[in-house]
Amino acid sequence: AEISNGAKIFEANCASCHIGGGNILISQKTLKKEALSKYLENYDSDSIEAIIHQVQNGKNAMPAFKGKLSSEEILEVAAYVFQNAEQGW
Ligand code: HEM
Repeated sequence: AEISNGAKIFEANCASCHIGGGNILISQKTLKKEALSKYLENYDSDSIEAIIHQVQNGKNAMPAFKGKLSSEEILEVAAYVFQNAEQGW
């Protein structure tokens, strides 16, 4: 199967901490649907926007990607995370 741009961006920038949709630093703050709904602000009202906000700005031990990734790349990786959260990684 063709590998999406979102998947490539995730592998290159996120998988070091979030391999398989997990979280190696704060184990409960995964990228799974239930965790996003519980811990990520505004996830239930606007999921993609909530992920974009976290990626742009970072939080605590997670670095900010604004300036490192373009806004198009951030949108692609956010859509990839959302799709995998919905599908169950
Ligand atoms: C949390 C996405 C890169 C460390 C999160 C959350 C999302 C996310 C959506 C919220 C999860 C939740 O609260 O359940 C991403 C994406 C990345 C990325 C798409 C790549 C563009 C990284 C990297 C690290 C990291 C490289 C480690 C150096 C963390 C940590 C949290 C977190 C520690 C919890 C923050 C807190 O609430 O204290 N990430 N992440 N992330 N991420 Fe990332």
